Amino acid sequence: MKLVIVRVTELLKEAVEKIVPDFKEWDKLFLQPASSEKFGHYQTNFAMMASKSFGKAPRAVAESIIAALPDNDEIEKLEVAGPGFINVYVNSRFLARSVKDSLTEKWDFSHINTAGDVVIDYSSPNIAKPMHAGHLRTTIIGDSVKRIMKYMGYNVIADNHLGDWGTQFGKLIVAYRNWLDKDNFEANPINELERIYIKFGEEAEILPELEDMARSELKKVQDGDPGNMALWKQFVEITLNECKRIYKYLDIDFDTYYGESFYHDMMPGVIRELEEKKIAVESEGALVVFFDESENLHPCIIRKKDGAYLYSTSDLATVKFKAEKYNVNKAIYVTDDRQEAHFKQVFRIAQMVGWNMEFVHITFGIMSFNGIILSTRAGNTIKLDELFAEAEKRAYAVVNEKNPDLPEDEKQQIAKCIGIGALKYSDLSQNRSSNIDFSWEKALSFEGNTAPYLQYSYARVKSILRKASETGVFYDKTAKIILETEIEKQIAVSMIRFPECVEKAAEFYKPNLIADHLFDLAQKFSSFYNSTPILKSEAELLQSRLNLADAVARTMKTGLDLLGIEVVERM
Ligand code: ARG
Repeated sequence: MKLVIVRVTELLKEAVEKIVPDFKEWDKLFLQPASSEKFGHYQTNFAMMASKSFGKAPRAVAESIIAALPDNDEIEKLEVAGPGFINVYVNSRFLARSVKDSLTEKWDFSHINTAGDVVIDYSSPNIAKPMHAGHLRTTIIGDSVKRIMKYMGYNVIADNHLGDWGTQFGKLIVAYRNWLDKDNFEANPINELERIYIKFGEEAEILPELEDMARSELKKVQDGDPGNMALWKQFVEITLNECKRIYKYLDIDFDTYYGESFYHDMMPGVIRELEEKKIAVESEGALVVFFDESENLHPCIIRKKDGAYLYSTSDLATVKFKAEKYNVNKAIYVTDDRQEAHFKQVFRIAQMVGWNMEFVHITFGIMSFNGIILSTRAGNTIKLDELFAEAEKRAYAVVNEKNPDLPEDEKQQIAKCIGIGALKYSDLSQNRSSNIDFSWEKALSFEGNTAPYLQYSYARVKSILRKASETGVFYDKTAKIILETEIEKQIAVSMIRFPECVEKAAEFYKPNLIADHLFDLAQKFSSFYNSTPILKSEAELLQSRLNLADAVARTMKTGLDLLGIEVVERM
């Protein structure tokens, strides 16, 4: 079903067409949520932007549009404000009907160009090293953006661009040949790989030549040496399975796992094309792309003196591959902001070659834990398994305190859902560009803008609906919604703005806009719940309120799902 804002825009458009039949500047006609309730529900500055085409002053334009508005039952009234704003008041019965319909129908985003494929590259860890808390943000943000785009109707391809071709494999081969404990490896391969990887680091401190050995072992992998290739394959399999186990736990999945190795054979072709088109030139033995001074980009080496390819070469190959394989609407990459310059170079070179598509680099800041910045180098990384175990343990304590009588297995299931939810939400509820600090106390609090608060507001509606059925109150899902009180109207407005907010979140790749919206809705519902005895209401109002509460719960569930967070029926 159409978004309310879209329907209102259409009506305004009809009015404009009546006045200026061949009007073309439709990009000037857009609505914004009113900055305050006093100005109605939506506002537009269209009359000011387009007054020239009407040959009238803005206020006169606004008045003529109001006079030309076709008969309809969606807009209650329009009014002119200030220098020529048009304030839109949506009819309250239309609001109520839209909320009601949203219980059974999907919002329709066909006013946006969702044709083609959105390829989104996120998580993309360098495997053979253990995955740790530093990999969380790209994984969580990328997954949420994927869910948002899918919800809007894009065909999304989630790609994990594994780092499966880098120096870490050379190190591991050296370590494997020198220090492997076979029994340990049989029993617990991932632990043993981790142990010898760390061992390599320690040994290389004393004997720096080990690094050269590692590089030459890696080169042998890349040149196809059968022994090294076999080891490489084995390491990839072991560590990739480990990653997949973690993704499963987080309810995150990918459509493709084209790692760096996948692109290896395409590199010579990329180099050739760049040379032929004179985009890359020889410079001191290396092959380099130089940019115009105005672009403010450092030269980008795509092949080193010794013939080795670089990170940028492999990313250029991924772009070429996407251009050939998909009908790309957008190519999205999610990494921390330190890779900004890299992607600027890659996108610019792709444009120079003619691999044209819309590129998006979604960046984010650093996540610290209780004020401590994690770094592999400082040796204070947190393993994901440990983090998850802690999440469940702490969430369990909270659940146990709030609801000690629940069956044990349900308590555990709720604890998992709250624990992971808290972790994801602490990231997604904040502006991704900021550095964020994670603390369990904040994340697991039932007060404020937190996942447990939102999950709780969902569970509360579910408990109302359960109570209704337990006490013999019939819930008529076909009954209509009546917006009786001010707070019920506010809830309805917040509900019909939910899809608008998803659209904005997609436009700016900011899941936190959805989080904010859900928090606002939950607060409104909470004041409704505290002021209005839903189950004690009578007849029509009782049914209306059950339906409204149900609609709130569904929006909460949908919204949390867009953040990758699950809900529970009680907590
Ligand atoms: N493996 C890289 C890292 O861990 C991230 C890869 C991001 N994707 C890409 N196509 N470069 O930093």
